[in-house]
Amino acid sequence: MVDKLSPDQKEVGTHNYHAAVGSYYDVNRRDFLRGIVGVGAVSGAGLGAMYYGYGKVNDPVRVAVIGTGDEGNVLIGGCTPEYVQVKAICDVRPFSVHRAFHGEWTSPSTLERRPGLLSVYGYPNEAQARKEIKVYDASNGGIMACLDDPEIEAVIIALPLFLHAPVAAQAMERGLHVLTEKLMAHDVAQCKVMSRMANEFKDSKGNPLHLATGHQRHYNVKYDNAVNLIRWGLLGQIHHIRAQWHRSNVPGADSWSMPIPGGEKMANGKIFDKIKSDLAYREKDLLDAVDPVEANRLRQQIAMFKAWDADKAIDPKMFGYQDFEVKGRKFSAMEELHRWRLFDRTGAGLMAELGSHQLDAVSIFLSSLRDDGKKVHPLSVHAVGGRHMMPLDRECEDHVYCMYEFPGPDYSAEFDVGYYDKVEDYPKGGSVDGYDKDPNKKVVVTYSTINGNGFGGWGEVVLGTKGTLILDSEVDVMLYRNSDTSSKVGVSKKAGGYVLDTSASGDYAAPIAQAAAAGPVSRGYREEIEHWAYCIRNPDKENRVRCYPEVAMGDAVIALGTNVALKNANSGKSGYLEFKEEWFQIDSDETPDGSTIAGATDYMKKPVA
Ligand SMILES: NC(=O)c1ccc[n+]([C@@H]2O[C@H](COP(=O)([O-])OP(=O)(O)OC[C@H]3O[C@@H](n4cnc5c(N)ncnc54)[C@H](O)[C@@H]3O)[C@@H](O)[C@H]2O)c1
Repeated sequence: MVDKLSPDQKEVGTHNYHAAVGSYYDVNRRDFLRGIVGVGAVSGAGLGAMYYGYGKVNDPVRVAVIGTGDEGNVLIGGCTPEYVQVKAICDVRPFSVHRAFHGEWTSPSTLERRPGLLSVYGYPNEAQARKEIKVYDASNGGIMACLDDPEIEAVIIALPLFLHAPVAAQAMERGLHVLTEKLMAHDVAQCKVMSRMANEFKDSKGNPLHLATGHQRHYNVKYDNAVNLIRWGLLGQIHHIRAQWHRSNVPGADSWSMPIPGGEKMANGKIFDKIKSDLAYREKDLLDAVDPVEANRLRQQIAMFKAWDADKAIDPKMFGYQDFEVKGRKFSAMEELHRWRLFDRTGAGLMAELGSHQLDAVSIFLSSLRDDGKKVHPLSVHAVGGRHMMPLDRECEDHVYCMYEFPGPDYSAEFDVGYYDKVEDYPKGGSVDGYDKDPNKKVVVTYSTINGNGFGGWGEVVLGTKGTLILDSEVDVMLYRNSDTSSKVGVSKKAGGYVLDTSASGDYAAPIAQAAAAGPVSRGYREEIEHWAYCIRNPDKENRVRCYPEVAMGDAVIALGTNVALKNANSGKSGYLEFKEEWFQIDSDETPDGSTIAGATDYMKKPVA
């Protein structure tokens, strides 16, 4: 996202962001900064609790993690033992169960993010861990048996998209709290049924259920600070946001096209078994390894690859996966299980997997400028895209480009938008009307998610009349006065309000402010789980997870509505879609994607294999 910036410009932007956040807290929340240092939170632990206003829990919530694939293991890595005790895991693939205990040893960074239960909870070995953590798989009833386990109070769901709704529904019917991964569900009606159930059902103690969805940016301190700066007025009037998620995947090397255990037939008729060959070269490397650390790493990888190879013995049809055909190309149930993102029945393409995160971020930024705390919904989208590069190995598109119109917010006279036209006397009296009063006032968001070239990676650029804020890869934040990427700035108070200013010292960026601005690099998973556990243990009305059903459903409506626009565009119609407000309302049965409440209810009632 910041590919055009030199290292010096990045350093300037990072400095400016730290200075601005430091100033923000110094002016607005001085006690908060002291608190952070007071509890030692600058070093990481407890920072989320300070930011999001939750405390410790006396009795960790007993959870099951259902689906321990790639993301399930990130979530296990985000479990804080003082908040949640993992009492069960559930997955049908030996590889996923192995990673859940031992972690993902492919590289130091994968291991850091997916450390495994042994590391998180300090078990000496798998046998010991299995005494405390029950494993539900194909041999003992899988998901349904896991949900019936009396030890479990809450479930974390990291299953393929099409299973989120039925598993969440079955869990809520049993009085279990739910944290499900995003997208909330596979269609909008499923989201509505889930939301209604969360309002209706109670836990075993008679308390309301907490249904959280894993859009982790709601718990990312960097985004929270960005919101503070936007609300404080440092960017002025926001008129454009551009966001992207570009990846280098090409045919034959696509991170969504995971290797198939047991191998695949190539065009020349031979079998290509990537897992087996990766296993073999690690076994060979181990014979030559002299460094004990390297030898241990290879042994761990070999155990992991053996578990992955064992996935070939699973019969995916036992769990509802199907053989099917698209335009004469046959796909196996094994492909559907391992590459579920690529197919319409099990996934919902780029907008569900990637776009939903960034449109969620856009909504966070734009909603922050409203005083009623409501989530802003887009007015319309123009979308195009398709399978522009990949062969017929998928149903979903590999390129998507969209343009959204959002209603522009009102700016009061106290908010300095950073301009004044004396000829027009504009803005009159200092205030700028929002879309409700002046339909010209819109914020346009351009978004693209493509394969084939990862130039610029992923992130969001927020453009305002006073400043530019860049969020790069969920971790790095840079701030500039207008479009000036070379000047270091601090914050000073001018007649109109607070502004980024080259003559301000930026001394606030001294250690205390820098700690608040930088914090530990957390993408929010840990905080999202901790806060969910805190809300479960503290069932007061004001304790509510930040990505609650209306918010998560809004993200789903945007992603799935965009998919409708894309389909229209690809069938010779217009790719323009106006968003209807009823689509976003839990109590309305209206949906953009043709899904129905009756259909969703029927689907979600059926036990999951
Ligand atoms: N928040 C984020 O940033 C983020 C990132 C990646 C993925 N995700 C979401 O997490 C979810 C999982 O994605 P993933 O990348 O981990 O996929 P994955 O394919 O790696 O993992 C899914 C797991 O579910 C298991 N599973 C499938 N059907 C099952 C059944 N019937 N019973 C038991 N286990 C079953 C599979 O064996 C697999 O281990 C998706 O909804 C995805 O969108 C979120």
